[in-house]
Amino acid sequence: MTVRSVTVRVPAKVNVQLAVGGARPDGFHDLANVFLAVGLYDEVTVRPAASLTITCTGPDAEQVPLDRTNLAARAAELLAARHGIAPDVHIHIAKDIPVAGGMAGGSADGAGALLACDTLWGLGSSREELLSICAELGSDVPFSLVGGAALGTGRGERLTELEVGGSFHWVFAVADGGLSTPAVYAEFDRLNEGLSVPAPVASPALLDALRTGDVLALADAVSNDLQPAALSLRPPLADTLAVGAGAGALASLVSGSGPTTAFLVKDEDAAEGVATALRASGTCRAARVAGAPAMGARAVAV
Ligand code: C5P
Repeated sequence: MTVRSVTVRVPAKVNVQLAVGGARPDGFHDLANVFLAVGLYDEVTVRPAASLTITCTGPDAEQVPLDRTNLAARAAELLAARHGIAPDVHIHIAKDIPVAGGMAGGSADGAGALLACDTLWGLGSSREELLSICAELGSDVPFSLVGGAALGTGRGERLTELEVGGSFHWVFAVADGGLSTPAVYAEFDRLNEGLSVPAPVASPALLDALRTGDVLALADAVSNDLQPAALSLRPPLADTLAVGAGAGALASLVSGSGPTTAFLVKDEDAAEGVATALRASGTCRAARVAGAPAMGARAVAV
C-alpha cells in the first residue's frame, strides 16, 4: 500500500522544574529540566510534493515561519539527508500550541514532522535514531517525541523518563506576543552576573510528587529559574500570576521561558474557576485548560 499522507499529534509541555546553571562555553546552560507533557496539541500532516513546502492554520498561524527555519522543515531535511533521499513533502501544521510561548510548540512540530516523514517514507528508524535527530534540532525536541514526564539534563536533551502516579489539572494563560528563548536566557545571565550559579539538580521532593501523583506536594515543589528573567522582560506577567493565585491555583509559574503562565489546580472545577477569572481579568489573551501527563508524538492517521 502506498501511504498518501501521515498525521502525527504532538503535545505541549510545561516545565515543573527548570533549574538553570551558569552559561557554558558553547552558550547553552546546563539544566535539570523536569518536563511534563500537557494536553494541548499540534497536528502535523505530511504528504508527497514536488518540493519541501509548509502551511499552517490555527489562531497564531501568522506568527509561524513557513521557510526552512521552521523546525518541521529542518526535521524533514535532516531525516532525508541521513537516508540520501529528497525531502520533497508538503507539511501542514494545525497549530493549537501557543507560538513562542514557552510550551515547546516549535519543538512539537519538529518532532511531529520527523515521525510523520519517517512513516511516510517507510524508513522505520529506531527510537534512538529519531531521538538523536531530535537532539540536533533543539534542546526540547526529544521530549516532544517522548511525552509523559522526563528529566532532561545536559542542555535538556538527555532524557530520563519519569513515572507519574496520577493525573494533574492545569490552566495556561496565553500572553499577547511571544518571548524569545535566547533573550530570556541572556536576561538570566544578566541578572546573575557576578553571582555564583549553583549546578542544577532535580528536586527529590518534586520527583516524589510526580511518582505518587500528589498534587499538593507537586504544587509545593514546582520552580522555574527562568521566571525572574521572563518577568524582568515582561513585568505585566506578574499580574497574570496574581490573578491565577487569587482564583485558587495551588501553584502559579511561568511556563519555561514564557510568556505563557501555568497554574496547577486541584481538579476540573478548580480549572474552570481559574480559567474564568483569568479571562475576565484582561491580563492575558486566552486561558486554556489541559490535563497531564499527555502522550508523546504519535501517528493518528495514515
Ligand atoms: O536548543 P534550542 O535551539 O531550543 O535553544 C534555543 C536557545 O535557548 C539557545 O540558542 C540558547 O540561547 C538558549 N538555551 C540555553 N540553554 C539551554 C537551552 C537553550 O541557553 N539548555
